[in-house]
Amino acid sequence: MRKLVAGNWKMNGLTADGVALARDLAARAKATPPACEVLLCPPAPLLAPLANAIAGSGIVLGGQDCHTEAKGAHTGDIGAPMLKDAGCAYVIVGHSERRHDHKETDALVRAKASAAVAAGLCAIVCIGETAAERSGGRTEAVVVRQLQASLPLRLGPAQLVVAYEPVWAIGTGRTPTPPEVAAVHARIRAALRDLVAEPAGIRILYGGSVKPANARELMTVADVDGALIGGASLVADEFWAIAQACG
Ligand code: 13P
Repeated sequence: MRKLVAGNWKMNGLTADGVALARDLAARAKATPPACEVLLCPPAPLLAPLANAIAGSGIVLGGQDCHTEAKGAHTGDIGAPMLKDAGCAYVIVGHSERRHDHKETDALVRAKASAAVAAGLCAIVCIGETAAERSGGRTEAVVVRQLQASLPLRLGPAQLVVAYEPVWAIGTGRTPTPPEVAAVHARIRAALRDLVAEPAGIRILYGGSVKPANARELMTVADVDGALIGGASLVADEFWAIAQACG
């Protein structure tokens, strides 16, 4: 399975620096096509300029969120068909920052993932436990519950990617150990058997403080099919080093 390395820029980047970063990455991808699929998820106002900056490089584009409806009276929201129209192939849904900041529930995440798939996008559905849930021994129960409640049923590998992001590892410089990552990813793979069309073909990304220094170790863990990267995706050298570690 081809690994996926996705940069989630979150709420970072203005046109000049975002386009410069994307052009830098596009030039590297053209010079040395990476073994993994490389995805950039910039803030929505940068989608159109980035689509231009990465054209012909093989790098693909994604949104960071979408509405459950395709269009309508929803001020400030973005419909999945609009992301598709802007050149996206993917959209992240259910990131822990949205679950927390915007009180998004599993049911809402499932509806957003359905809307994404209906628009022809691949949904990257994020799950992950908090520090309290991990220290309480509830990690696997939490991620399985999130999967069961957040995934539309019977999606295939072209429609769904799962991203496991422990909330306590995001932006903290702390990560689970490789055996801890392996245990959760194995549990996710097992849970997918009852939920998706081709469980073995669904990519399961790890996210949370992935850096060049730990990428190779994390990316060689069984059932880790790529990475979802925040901070390090804003630095061309770091993001590219992670993409190469995935190859
Ligand atoms: P960091 O890589 O900054 O920890 O962020 C991870 C993340 O939230 C990606 O979606």
